[in-house]
Amino acid sequence: MSVGGVVVVIVGLLVIHQSNAEKSRCDVFQGSWVLVSESSSYPLYNSTSCPFIQKEFNCQKNGRPDHFYLNYTWQPHACNLSRFDGGELLRRYKGKSIMFVGDSLSRNQWQSLICMLYSSVPGANYYMETASAEVSTFTFTDFDVKVMLDHTVYLVDVVREAEGRILKLDSIQGCKRWKGIDVLIFNTWHWWNRRGATQPWDYIEVGGRLYKDMDRVVAFEKALTTWAKWVDTNVDPTNTKVFFQGISPSHYNGSTWNEPRAKSCVGQREPVAGSTYPGGLPPALAVLKKVLSRMKKHVELLDITNLSLLRKDGHPSVYGLGGMDCSHWCLPGVPDTWNLILYNRLVLLLN
Ligand SMILES: *[C@@H]1O[C@H](CO)[C@@H](O)[C@H](O)[C@H]1NC(C)=O
Ligand SMILES: *[C@@H]1O[C@H](CO)[C@@H](O)[C@H](O)[C@H]1NC(C)=O
Ligand SMILES: *[C@@H]1O[C@H](CO)[C@@H](O)[C@H](O)[C@H]1NC(C)=O
Ligand SMILES: *[C@@H]1O[C@H](CO)[C@@H](O)[C@H](O)[C@H]1NC(C)=O
Ligand SMILES: *[C@@H]1O[C@H](CO)[C@@H](O)[C@H](O)[C@H]1NC(C)=O
Repeated sequence: MSVGGVVVVIVGLLVIHQSNAEKSRCDVFQGSWVLVSESSSYPLYNSTSCPFIQKEFNCQKNGRPDHFYLNYTWQPHACNLSRFDGGELLRRYKGKSIMFVGDSLSRNQWQSLICMLYSSVPGANYYMETASAEVSTFTFTDFDVKVMLDHTVYLVDVVREAEGRILKLDSIQGCKRWKGIDVLIFNTWHWWNRRGATQPWDYIEVGGRLYKDMDRVVAFEKALTTWAKWVDTNVDPTNTKVFFQGISPSHYNGSTWNEPRAKSCVGQREPVAGSTYPGGLPPALAVLKKVLSRMKKHVELLDITNLSLLRKDGHPSVYGLGGMDCSHWCLPGVPDTWNLILYNRLVLLLN
């Protein structure tokens, strides 16, 4: 009997070892979009079941006539993502806080997660609060789970001083709001390319010197490095999980998906087929990966750039605020997949 017991233990270890190896081979970011069957329960919510979608993202309510974009799900090549179970996430994260930090793409993902959770526990009690100019909090009060947004477009500071508005690449005061949060999901990029009237600063300060302007990718890297130093110095990975969202792509140039006559995402009704985006990856992604690779603490990249690049059909286009928007994403839509992957990481520890 004792011999049998030993054999069982050894077989058990082998099985565990093998399944971990299999999991680590699966890169959930390598895959393609598939149109799901009628019987599927995707999308997970709509503007009726989730009353918190802001107008900017609420494409169906704004009259978007086509619906195929709602029925694509992300299929990794080497494994299957587990279905979203909001109740499971709320129970596992009882008493904890999840915070998205960054620009309006973070707001997009924050609203998506609220809708995914709210729709899986219909009628749940909640409390929505805007605590400051930056921070909004949605609390699932029955579970004491906070889903938060910190709106800070550069992560580093913009400060008004005698010379004007200064973008300070070495200064990161926003971090005061990130202390004690259990899950942090950072994102910044879209504002780094702003020029003219929508650029919210007059000078860049770095290393104690003021510049009228500089290469924006260089500035982005310096700011990310400041952020990375903060994480390395202040985050305890046993208490706090840190993610970076990856670069959310825009679709304003049809040449990048081999359709030169398309001047934007307007009228796009289906994703790029297959797994490769003809236009390649945005250069900012390589910068982000370089900064993450130099860090001492582990930050997990939610590497959603490739899968989102394929979704030229996923933007509000003219069914957002009224102008043309090929940067944000309709809800329900692509950010639900970002959150499904986040969920798989948080709850199931799928590699
Ligand atoms: C999308 O899927 C739903 C069921 O989940 C189905 O009712 C609807 O017809 C599908 N729409 C399209 C455009 O395939
Ligand atoms: C929205 O979702 C609710 C609940 O899942 C469903 O009953 C309703 O039919 C949906 N409405 C639309 C317009 O899809
Ligand atoms: C994924 O799920 C499908 C059916 O839902 C199944 O046929 C397939 O074997 C699964 N793939 C993996 C890698 O588990
Ligand atoms: C669109 O993309 C193509 C291919 O990448 C590039 O050659 C072209 O300059 C771009 N056009 C604009 C208006 O950015
Ligand atoms: C992203 O796509 C590019 C080609 O478009 C490919 O070379 C690269 O391996 C992909 N990366 C991931 C993480 O899927």
